[in-house]
Amino acid sequence: MNHESPPRDPDGAAQRLREESDAHVIKCMGDVDMGLVHGQGVRVEDADGNEYLDAISAEWVLNLGFRHPEIMEAMERQFGKIDYVSPVFEDEARTAYAKKLAELAPGALSKVLYGISGAGAVEGAMHLAMRTTGGTDFVVLDAAFHGRSFATIGMTYVHPGMVEGANKGLDRYLPRQMRVPNYNCYRCPLGLERETCDLACADTIDFALERGHINGPAGVMVEPYQANGGMVPAPDGYLERAHEIAKSHEVPLIVDEIQGSLCRCGPMYASERAGIEPEMIILGKALGGGLPLSATITTPEYSELLPWEYGFTQAGNPMACAAGLAMVEIMVRDDLPANSERIGKLMVDRLAEIEKDSKLIGDIRGQGLMIGVELVRDRETKEPAFEETDLLMAACLEHGLMIGKTGPVFGSNGNVAKFKPAVNVSEEDAEEMVELFGRALKDVEATL
Ligand SMILES: Cc1ncc(COP(=O)(O)O)c(C=O)c1O
Repeated sequence: MNHESPPRDPDGAAQRLREESDAHVIKCMGDVDMGLVHGQGVRVEDADGNEYLDAISAEWVLNLGFRHPEIMEAMERQFGKIDYVSPVFEDEARTAYAKKLAELAPGALSKVLYGISGAGAVEGAMHLAMRTTGGTDFVVLDAAFHGRSFATIGMTYVHPGMVEGANKGLDRYLPRQMRVPNYNCYRCPLGLERETCDLACADTIDFALERGHINGPAGVMVEPYQANGGMVPAPDGYLERAHEIAKSHEVPLIVDEIQGSLCRCGPMYASERAGIEPEMIILGKALGGGLPLSATITTPEYSELLPWEYGFTQAGNPMACAAGLAMVEIMVRDDLPANSERIGKLMVDRLAEIEKDSKLIGDIRGQGLMIGVELVRDRETKEPAFEETDLLMAACLEHGLMIGKTGPVFGSNGNVAKFKPAVNVSEEDAEEMVELFGRALKDVEATL
């Protein structure tokens, strides 16, 4: 088996794109030597003319796939009216989208603070929580990911081996946060078993809020499903317990649903799975229907903001709001929460069949269309299969499938293959994704 890329035409368009990009673009978030030039639905074409089945909805940003016709029409309609309105004014698209997000949100969440990036929305949530509680210290989880801006790097998990030297010289910008053991039932940080642990990991939040802070606690921030931390779902009861604890200390529970919402984990908001009504939910990634948009949605109690106190010139851009609103309306109309649950279960079932003959699959974890497959060298010791996962990624591309890779130590490592296809994916395309994955895994296992 050969995992090398096919030789590239040295004078071809793909090579030229790479060279010009190298000369002028500072790449962030890693470097894959592949230019993507055209996409439609769940298919994407690279600059060499190769077509791939996209099982990760373009960095889980295009939850309805590439160039959804109704989202494109909504953008055109908006463009025909007005393309930008400063956040100081009222804007129809911005208001309509906030109203729709509030209608669909759990509990008393009714006020939307828009941002542009996920990290910007996390900072917005931090800002609202700090000014309302008067505290400055947040409880965050080991293996959490909340962004890479100066405020959010401190919230994000940084393993010493993650990306060597990535935070060198930045320490003075990174305030200390209260980090507690995460939920990870496959690799419990407390060495417990789920049947008998009584969610001891959640109780560490209580300890931190009581004893871990210096300047007063400001909130508890959790992902409902740790994606970058290794595709790990919060166990049943965890979010409910975390919310009870936060309430007892009079600080908000802030659920970072930047990845988990918009039908990714099934329901529109991932918090719905647990039936909780948190004080804040953070949205991003797919929120703008493919355009840059993020938001914190919160209760009136946490929504005070003075003019000029916080915000971004492009926050709540009308084009992005129109595209996002069209996307959410389609999700409701076509009952895509149900599609995500149904197809997600189908994919997990098929993966479980593949697992039976596999040497490498250690665990499969799914919630809706948020699915992780953890690869280990030995099912007893659970030694992570880092190199094998890299080979698998390359083999998937050879079979025309694009999947992702993540933690438990992400960055240059990673032993969890991830599937996050468009939430309107058909049964047929989902079956093909798993089929191609199975073939690629067989190729890799044949070399072991
Ligand atoms: C859970 C979570 N929070 C925050 C972020 C940061 O989002 P952005 O990269 O748009 O700043 C991400 C991005 O991967 C994320 O997955």
